[in-house]
Amino acid sequence: MLDNPLQRWIQGLRGKKGRAPVLVKELGERDRRRMLRHLLALDSGDRLLRFGSQVPDEQIIAYVGKIDFGRDIVFGVVNHVFQLVGLGHLAFAPSDGKKTDKEQVAEFGVSVSSSARGQGVGTRLFQRAAIHCRNSDVDTLYMQCLTSNQTMMHIARKAGMRIKREYGEADAHLEIAPPSPGSVMAEALEEQFATIDYTVKANARAAVKFFTPRKR
Ligand SMILES: CC(C)(COP(=O)(O)OP(=O)(O)OC[C@H]1O[C@@H](n2cnc3c(N)ncnc32)[C@H](O)[C@@H]1OP(=O)(O)O)[C@@H](O)C(=O)NCCC(=O)NCCS
Repeated sequence: MLDNPLQRWIQGLRGKKGRAPVLVKELGERDRRRMLRHLLALDSGDRLLRFGSQVPDEQIIAYVGKIDFGRDIVFGVVNHVFQLVGLGHLAFAPSDGKKTDKEQVAEFGVSVSSSARGQGVGTRLFQRAAIHCRNSDVDTLYMQCLTSNQTMMHIARKAGMRIKREYGEADAHLEIAPPSPGSVMAEALEEQFATIDYTVKANARAAVKFFTPRKR
């Protein structure tokens, strides 16, 4: 019988409200420019929600420049014209031993372009981060957000996160189950599907660029 994470993943392939499924892919060095473009397009309100303050462009440039793909994991969702519309950063840090006896804990930050909201992109990025933690034997996932961020609070609650509110900030954490064959397979399948989708869209974009006459 199929294990729950795999069943959930298969169900998740059905897009929200009859839309195309949302496929989440691990990003790497070649995506750094796309990541920067996505984050720079966030308006000041979204920057406040994502980073906890209205960070200027220079700080976003420095943040993206410093992402270490060897240590952290970055997930993305691209739209049909190969624009990055969803970005999730899963950062690992040594545990202080308060909530877990594992060596590391993870913290997740996410943003979705305003044009792609309400289609399940944020939820799928969060689910992918959680399953990645599960398969990496990390059992505690943190997320910091403002209590006014109702959308994110909804996603966190839906995922079963415990939320502690203090001075307008919410510290949410999720206790994650140990890995299982189903969770490993669900993540591997998603990555393969997403890689095919990403490659097809990247090639289509390159072909359009190639065949579009340049303006003189
Ligand atoms: C928060 C954010 C990532 C959500 O992305 P998204 O792709 O729109 O999210 P989804 O479509 O997966 O889910 C949105 C859910 O919130 C619900 N929602 C939307 N507005 C809501 C509100 N005001 N109050 C409560 N729930 C709300 C939707 O109904 C949906 O729930 P459902 O899936 O149960 O129907 C996106 O709005 C964003 O990038 N915001 C700015 C940055 C940010 O806040 N980052 C989080 C801090 S780390």
